[in-house]
Amino acid sequence: MKKTEYIPGDEIYRFLSKAMASLEIPKQEEIETGSKKIFERDISDLASEINYINELLGKIEIGETAKHVENVALKGMEVADYLGIGNIEVSERGNVRQAMFISGLVHDKGKISPSMRENVKKSERVRNGSMEQFTQKDMQNMKRHVLVSAELEEDPFIRGIIARHHIYQKNRYPKISLFPYDEKKYGERSPEVIYLSKLLAIVDCYDRAQDKERVMEIYARLKLNRCDRLPRMKGKKLIDMLYAEGIF
Ligand SMILES: [Fe+2]
Ligand SMILES: [Fe+2]
Repeated sequence: MKKTEYIPGDEIYRFLSKAMASLEIPKQEEIETGSKKIFERDISDLASEINYINELLGKIEIGETAKHVENVALKGMEVADYLGIGNIEVSERGNVRQAMFISGLVHDKGKISPSMRENVKKSERVRNGSMEQFTQKDMQNMKRHVLVSAELEEDPFIRGIIARHHIYQKNRYPKISLFPYDEKKYGERSPEVIYLSKLLAIVDCYDRAQDKERVMEIYARLKLNRCDRLPRMKGKKLIDMLYAEGIF
């Protein structure tokens, strides 16, 4: 079994601990080294994704995006567990809980690619009230993050989920309706992938929405009934339930 040593920065320590607890990853060894801790872990994939988060938080100053992907990763697992599907095995990589966590963590990974960083920083400034113009051209560039994220992901199951995370909204993108044949580009296209991409889209949109009520509008009619192994319901019903439970 491959083990990975990982030294988290202070800021992500809390996130990492939360994630590991949710994913039921045992902290096999935990050694205090000053204010940092070293974990010896046996899920090397996860460690590399967490290195990516560290990069986001520590080096390239797109903190909102870092916080956002953390939220989506953790909230995605909560939603999976609320639906009672967290433990269903869906891919070689693991169960629904793990798939939602990894997908949440990497779904906007394209935003740290060199060609997009300045764009993302600008959008964060605009969201925070800067008077700069976020132009059509900026928006077009921003939309590229989906396919860049997908290209950076090796696992076709996860790639399938993240390639679809903006196709259920009103201004959907990329503008391809079914992602039919190009598995290399768009990943796997199984009922599970489609179902989980819808869950990811709801959690993603919810976390980013300034006005949470808009999530209700956008996803009101989204159907989540594509797979026998997963619960049949509509997006609106799920969102209502998540609100009622205080998860959203
Ligand atoms: Fe996105
Ligand atoms: Fe996102």
